[in-house]
Amino acid sequence: MDKDHLARTAKALVAEGRGIFAADESGGTIAKRFAAIGVGSTEETRRDYRELLFRSKDALRQYISGVILFDETIRQSASDGAPLVKLIEAAGAIPGIKVDLGARPLPNFPGETITEGLDGLHDRLMNYYGLGARFAKWRAVIDINQDTGVPTEYAVEANARALARYAAHCQDANLAPIVEPEVLMDGDHDIERCAEVTEFVLNRVFAALYEARVFLEGMALKPNMVVAGKKCARRAPPEQVAEATLRVLRRTVPIAVPGVAFLSGGQSDVEATANLDAINRIRGPWALTFSYGRALQTSALKCWAGKPENVKAAQAAFTHRARMNALASQGRWTEKQEEAA
Ligand code: 13P
Repeated sequence: MDKDHLARTAKALVAEGRGIFAADESGGTIAKRFAAIGVGSTEETRRDYRELLFRSKDALRQYISGVILFDETIRQSASDGAPLVKLIEAAGAIPGIKVDLGARPLPNFPGETITEGLDGLHDRLMNYYGLGARFAKWRAVIDINQDTGVPTEYAVEANARALARYAAHCQDANLAPIVEPEVLMDGDHDIERCAEVTEFVLNRVFAALYEARVFLEGMALKPNMVVAGKKCARRAPPEQVAEATLRVLRRTVPIAVPGVAFLSGGQSDVEATANLDAINRIRGPWALTFSYGRALQTSALKCWAGKPENVKAAQAAFTHRARMNALASQGRWTEKQEEAA
């Protein structure tokens, strides 16, 4: 383990005014996103779409620190033959890789999952490093369901342990781990319940990281924000989300961790930006930025609609969202800038 190298990578991922672009949708997820815009999912359409995003040079050059790739993408070449990883590097961003193999049902615990992918992880990480990846991501999924008593302590603990083993393996291979315990916002729970569950989950995750001897300075945390469930009638404004999120983070995340890069988790584009901005108007001892998938891509995907003549407009839409979130990561976003698109 090269601690200096890991700490440098982790720091660069959360550098001032930049955030992470999650472009690591699995085959099933990207097919769903393409179906919504009437585009078939083939190796070529997936390549074309990701190539257009990675060639949005201003976005990557100015606002994006790192790009999380899926296994297929890290091995793919652009239409002119240049490896996609090289496009990312040329724009000054760091290539990363999703290494979990997805969340599967946890036996005996209905409605809960365990993320798989630890077997053979060491060899896969060595291979990814050779392909240019300098950081990795593993996502654990925790649902909230008041009626069924989910999440259970057992499921949270099992996922925390897997995250810790993954993180230790990454550091052993000199890849900075992004540790992502996602508390879903699908339910009808209120913001207080989300805060309670997120605090419990992060506590267990950091206890597991400690026991696994993970080097905290050489990782980044990718949590959910503390928000009300999508089906909850009582919506929480950005100021409330920011206060609740920071309260939970202060109670659970050691300041040795250089940065926190939130997932968007199903928030709308502007909601994800407004909440990140409110969080950075309060601030904390860590860098607080974005690691968005959907909230960076939805508008670009719609603009593109699979048509080559729309590539420029889609790139402009992507760059705009990256810029808005970069401003939000500094607490400098305003609705006026949003409308100037
Ligand atoms: P969303 O921002 O769409 O939640 O995606 C982030 C991510 O990487 C989920 O694993």
